[in-house]
Amino acid sequence: MTTEHEWLERARRWCFRARLESPHWDGPVFERGEGTLLWDVEGKEYLDLNAGQICGVLGHSDPRIAEAIATAARTLVHASSNFYNTAEIELAERLGMTLPSSLHRAFFGLSGSDATEAAMGIAKAATGRYEIASPHVSFHGFSEQPRALSFAIWGERHSPPAPGNFALMAPYCFRCPIRHTYPECELACLDGSLEVLDTETGGSLAAIITEPLPSAGGVIVPPEGWLARVRDACRERDALLILDESQTGLAKLGTMWGFEHDGVAPDIVTVSKHFGGGIPISAVVTTDEIEQRAIEQGFVYAHSHSADPLACTAALVTLDVIEKDGLVVRSEELGRYWRSHMERLAAEHSCIVDLRGRGVLQGVELGASDGSPGGEIGKAVGRHCLDAGLLFSVRRAGSVFRFTIPFSTTEQQLDAAAEILDSALVQAAATV
Ligand SMILES: Cc1ncc(COP(=O)(O)O)c(C=O)c1O
Repeated sequence: MTTEHEWLERARRWCFRARLESPHWDGPVFERGEGTLLWDVEGKEYLDLNAGQICGVLGHSDPRIAEAIATAARTLVHASSNFYNTAEIELAERLGMTLPSSLHRAFFGLSGSDATEAAMGIAKAATGRYEIASPHVSFHGFSEQPRALSFAIWGERHSPPAPGNFALMAPYCFRCPIRHTYPECELACLDGSLEVLDTETGGSLAAIITEPLPSAGGVIVPPEGWLARVRDACRERDALLILDESQTGLAKLGTMWGFEHDGVAPDIVTVSKHFGGGIPISAVVTTDEIEQRAIEQGFVYAHSHSADPLACTAALVTLDVIEKDGLVVRSEELGRYWRSHMERLAAEHSCIVDLRGRGVLQGVELGASDGSPGGEIGKAVGRHCLDAGLLFSVRRAGSVFRFTIPFSTTEQQLDAAAEILDSALVQAAATV
């Protein structure tokens, strides 16, 4: 058996290090997965409450996805993106049926970044404008245009970001940047941001893009009315509302789409992550009118692998699984169960200062004894949990834990995860 040390030696020699977290040569080195479990090359088991890179929310190696991929591989893996293919047409129809009736023109891309790029391009073409704004905790992807609107993290750039992109103050109520309290604030953060935005833009606002619940920026649950106000702000400026549902769409928040919580329909919606059950695919869906305007302006967007039949087939099975397994309901159940564990831990550990999230996307905010963000404790807890075989995401420089609970997770697995987290919190409190 090749040991982890030997695998890492080979990685040191052959692999490129630009990882999301700081460049490193540490383990684990993963080899296989099933449901919510992952195993590394040493045979150590991990409970994966990060669902891979959040794309494995259906559970690792779901046999139904595996079977569909195998069939597609024997039928047609790739076809020309200049033409339509049957899997693509079927998927566009199925996806459209999950959305409000106005949203039914679907384009399939390769990743979340790709979907953001396409959505930004469509908005610019359809409005004839070029400026876009997004909340300051947003993450919309790493390719060049989305990166200019990904303010949350990994801000280092090697060249100036594209002009015409602006930040709005996010509704991060727990640590409100302007020290207000909802609802008395009447969403002053948004009103102030829009006033500034109007002075910054050259009257050429094409769109505001936001996640219905900004995730990578710290599982920020906007207060009631915020998203509706953003939509109104777009209308007042003849701009479009793009909702990036890469993370929040397809049953994760206890609804098919995150925006259902707010009763706000976007002009353009994007989705990626678990859309392909682990296979890379994303979608951008918009209205007839916006599609028509973009096409009239000569808008073209395609990659060699856009709408590949294999990826579209995997996404069709994902939609089947969501429906057949009742994942909208399961999301709510799993979220509630995990939240009850987190409430117990919050009562026992004073460093847990806020719990938030919806469905299987759950956040835990940590604070130091003086009330400042608990980044050092968070990083220590994250390290202890990794050693003990529990994976999740540590955000906001360590002060927020994000749990993305795969739908395959059992209540017993959540009990085990909470126990590991509990011990890690005790260990961290003794050392930090
Ligand atoms: C909301 C959101 N949009 C877009 C992206 C980019 O997706 P990808 O990494 O597939 O390019 C991400 C990735 O985490 C995301 O969270």
